[in-house]
Amino acid sequence: MDHFQYRDGELCAEAVPIRRIADDVGTPFYCYSTVTLERHYRVFTEALTGLDALVCFSVKANSNLAVIATLANLGAGADVVSGGELKRALVAGVPADRIVFAGVGKTTDEMAAALKAGILQINVESAPELEMLAQVATSLGREAPIGIRVNPDVDAHSHVKITTGKRENKFGVPLADARELYRRAAKMKGIRVAGVAVHIGSQILTLEPFREAFRRTAELTQALRADGHDIRWVDLGGGLGIPYENETPPTPAEYGALVKSVIGPLGCRLILDPGRLIAGNAGVLVSRVLLVKAGATHDFVIVDAAMNDFIRPTLYNAHHAIVPVRESADGAVSKEVEVVGPVCESGDTFGRTRRLPAIAGGDLIALRTAGAYGAVMASAYNTRPLIPEVLVRDDAYAVVRERISVDDMLARETLPKWLATGTRAKRKAGR
Ligand code: LLP
Repeated sequence: MDHFQYRDGELCAEAVPIRRIADDVGTPFYCYSTVTLERHYRVFTEALTGLDALVCFSVKANSNLAVIATLANLGAGADVVSGGELKRALVAGVPADRIVFAGVGKTTDEMAAALKAGILQINVESAPELEMLAQVATSLGREAPIGIRVNPDVDAHSHVKITTGKRENKFGVPLADARELYRRAAKMKGIRVAGVAVHIGSQILTLEPFREAFRRTAELTQALRADGHDIRWVDLGGGLGIPYENETPPTPAEYGALVKSVIGPLGCRLILDPGRLIAGNAGVLVSRVLLVKAGATHDFVIVDAAMNDFIRPTLYNAHHAIVPVRESADGAVSKEVEVVGPVCESGDTFGRTRRLPAIAGGDLIALRTAGAYGAVMASAYNTRPLIPEVLVRDDAYAVVRERISVDDMLARETLPKWLATGTRAKRKAGR
């Protein structure tokens, strides 16, 4: 359930007409709904009632400071995967003892920053990483609270690019090697064993892969305890899918019931790091139609957003509903069109066969369910600067990341001495 609905024929974000934001801010832009973010966080945490669970929003899904702060205000922690995300979480007001640092490769600087901040847990994914972390921690005179991320060899049956828990994936430590690595970790100076972590992928649409991964993780946890390790935390990752088209993923309540039955008996404190589930339906990408072009086989609706702004459709063949901002009249004639951006690649398409009502240059459209893995994955390809992000709350909205200008981009580039002295290059660079 989201809060992007038509009111008087106009698509609104909560009580704010999208058109108003477009007129003020320009297009394209991402627009997020506070009420939707809050609702998703509450529904998820309520599904875990009775468990000692900490929900760490997976910041990689949407790392805007205002989005993180909205969730932090409700008590959310953060799952981060880089020094940059760590900084964002801290700046947005997430207490350090609610931050978990995951990822298959961390630099020593990132490790040091996490240790200095005093975060809850660093999830380690290999023996060499464990050794690096021990060194960094001892050089700082600290102890790193660690979880070891295990690879349970479970197929999440998701898109191949976002499946992480199979043995051939780069993630985690094979279950068979985990006990030995914990044995080593327990003896290392600078390391304190705190937990176990698992994450098998994203956009998972059935409970079965979770059940299997959790069962294997629970078994390992018991074995580790029998080995004498003080396992306090079990981090179950994220991954619960959401509907983009007509999928019917398990509900948070069903997921929560599974966690309770498989992991509950361990009596551990739990970390869950959902990203998509919280932010996906809480955002849309708004774009303006530049023109409609009649192609040899079908019409192209060319819009001012492109694959650099939103890469999910081309990268994962992901379906995102495309709707007109002005509601089409009942019975209006619709036509099958391809909605594309202006970038010079045939892959720059948002939907190859979409039924849209008559649409013309100047009209606004919205790509739904773009709140997760949207703005965060944008690039400046084709020198198309990053676009703004807007957060709505009830009848108010705020630009929470401003549009970058081309001049901002160029200001970060310099000509080397041998070119800067050449008059032609200088003239061309406008300097
Ligand atoms: N925890 C860990 C350790 C993760 O690696 C991820 C996502 C999450 C939690 C959050 O997963 P979620 O609840 O959002 O499924 N860019 C891709 C998704 C990549 C997910 C990477 N890891 C997409 O647009 O579909």
